[in-house]
Formats: sequence, structure tokens, C-alpha cells
Amino acid sequence: MSITPASPERKRILTGDRPTGRLHLGHYVGSLKSRVELQNSYDTTLIVADLHMLTTKPDRGDIEAIADNARGLVLDYLAAGIDPGKTTIYLQSAVRETYELNLVLEMLVTVNRLTRVPSIKDMARAANLSDEEMPFGLLGYPVLQAADILLPRAHLVPVGKDNESHVEVSREVARRFNHLYGEVFPLPDALVGEIPTLLGTDGQGKMSKSLGNCIYLQDDQATVNRKVSSMYTDPKRVHADIPGTVEGNPVFQYHDAFNPDKSEVEDFKKRYREGKIGDVEVKQSLARAINAFLEPLRERYQSYASDTGFVDQVLQEGTERMRVVAGATMREVWKAMGMAGVHNRISRAAEKRQKRQGGKD
Ligand code: TRP
Repeated sequence: MSITPASPERKRILTGDRPTGRLHLGHYVGSLKSRVELQNSYDTTLIVADLHMLTTKPDRGDIEAIADNARGLVLDYLAAGIDPGKTTIYLQSAVRETYELNLVLEMLVTVNRLTRVPSIKDMARAANLSDEEMPFGLLGYPVLQAADILLPRAHLVPVGKDNESHVEVSREVARRFNHLYGEVFPLPDALVGEIPTLLGTDGQGKMSKSLGNCIYLQDDQATVNRKVSSMYTDPKRVHADIPGTVEGNPVFQYHDAFNPDKSEVEDFKKRYREGKIGDVEVKQSLARAINAFLEPLRERYQSYASDTGFVDQVLQEGTERMRVVAGATMREVWKAMGMAGVHNRISRAAEKRQKRQGGKD
């Protein structure tokens, strides 16, 4: 594997996902697409955020699934076009500096501020936790994420819409650190994809694993055909000659996202509004478009998956690279805070005494 050396002029990206399972089309349009594009112009690092899994799922059973899910996530990244020769992919829990910076940043944000982060409540609800059962660590989820983002001193964070508020916390924490101790961190910006919220196949809300309304990047052709043919569409249209609604209709949102033939899409929309086309035709064309989009991803997935140990090697090498970067940042952090001075004074004094004692013995 050849690795392009990080050049100091290039701006940095840090982003990633929790290893919860497979990635779906919503992940792709929300952030994965821009990650793939931007890896050529930014120094890009992807985090496999296994520590974040512990904030809602600390059980042994859930932990056991992490290693497999981490491999699956890396395979999905590579399948989507992330180039391991350009992009560093690392395992969060294996970079110990994460824990150090997390502790430092915890001092720079109030409990009150974290209580106002909307996604924390959503995650608690999804995990069936009442307000009284809110773990300290779940409240701290955005702080741990800030540690991830600030460790490589990232400038840009391509994420899904639901993560925007976390990047905002990272900005505030970075600003606070710089104000107290001097300029160490750039203020990171979130970057949300062109289609921030892809609807689920049920049209009832965003595409999300827990709602069972996903098309996964690794779904095969037959699965895509089946899922698309049973997709939610305009329920008024019990006949093909009833004028339909395009806005908020997931079938057309997917056409916009995945059908490269824009004039076909415009023609479908026009005829749909006029009641001059059946849902079946629109859906068949959509299934073709999605399958054509996914085909190269499936091929790359297969070829990487059949190379035993490759994914583990990518993750291991990425983790080693990240440790170097993280170590350098933490030295800057402790120095800026004056904590390095505390360590040094103690160890110098201890050394002096040892020498004196040595002389007496
Ligand atoms: N919060 C992200 C998610 O929803 C995962 C994550 C952890 C992350 N650390 C990050 C994303 C740093 C971007 C940057 O899965």
C-alpha cells in the first residue's frame, strides 16, 4: 500500500461513523459522497467510532459485535470509493490520546449546553432511556466527538444532518480552549451533503436502520428491485391517471439522487403530475438507476472482502498513523495548558533528590 505523505498546506478532514452495521443510501448522499470526493484535496481521516457505541450499548453482547461491524464499515468505505492509500482509517478505542483529550474538553463545556443538544435526547429515546437514566457518557457524546475532531486538528467535518449540532459543540469547545490557553485548534466546520435527509423507502421519515426502511449499499439487485417496487409513493394514486405529487415523494427524491438521466427524471415528474404515467414504470426505472449506481460498489466490496486480512491491515496501519498525529497534538495541548510544566517540575525535583540520595548512600 502506498501512502501519500501528509503535506502541511493541505487542510484536514476528520469524520466517520459508529460501527453499527451496514451503510445505506442515506449515509451515501448525506456525507459519504463528499468524503470520497474530498479525499483528493484534503488530508482525510475516517474514524471507526467504537467508543461512541458504549454511550448507548455497553452490554457484552453489543461489544462482541463491534469487531465485525468495524470491518463491515471499513469495507463499505472502501466499496464507496475511499482510497486507503489516500485516507487514514482508524479505530477510535485504540488511540489512547482520545481519552486524554476527552477529559480536557469535558472541562470546557457546561452540562446545560449538552442538555440542549437535540440528538442526545433522540439517542436516549431510541435506547429506551428515561431522563433519570441518562448516562453521564451519553450526555458527553458530543464532547468525545469533539476530541475526535480536534485530535487531528481538523478543519472540515463532512457529516449527516443529525451530526451538525455535535460539530457546533466542537467549534465552541475549540474556541474556548484557544481563548484560555492559546491558538492550538482550527475551528471545525460541518459539511452536510446536497441531500441532507434522504427519506426511507416507507416515506415516513429519514432512512434509518432502526426504522427498517433502508436500501443498503450492499443490497443485491433482487433486493433493490423488491424494496423499490414496494416503496411508498403518493397514496392518492390508486390509478395511473390520477395526478400525483412529486414533492416529498421518496421515489422522486431517489430519482433526483441516483438517476443520472436528468431529462428522463423531468419527464417522469411532468407526466406524474399530469397523471400520465404509472408508478410501476417510474419505479422500474428507479431500480435500474440504483442498481447501476451500486454495481461498482458491490464489485469493489467483493474484491476487498475476498482479500483476507486486508481490511484489518488498513485499520491497523491507519491506527498507527493516527497515534503519531494524536501524540503530537496532545503534547501541544499539555504544553499550551501549562500541564507539561507541572509534570516537568515534579520529575526534575524527584530526579534531584534521587541524585542527592545517591551521593549519600
Ligand atoms: N457521531 C457519529 C455518528 O453518528 C460518529 C462520530 C464519532 C463522528 N466521532 C466523530 C463523526 C467525529 C464525525 C466526526 O455515527
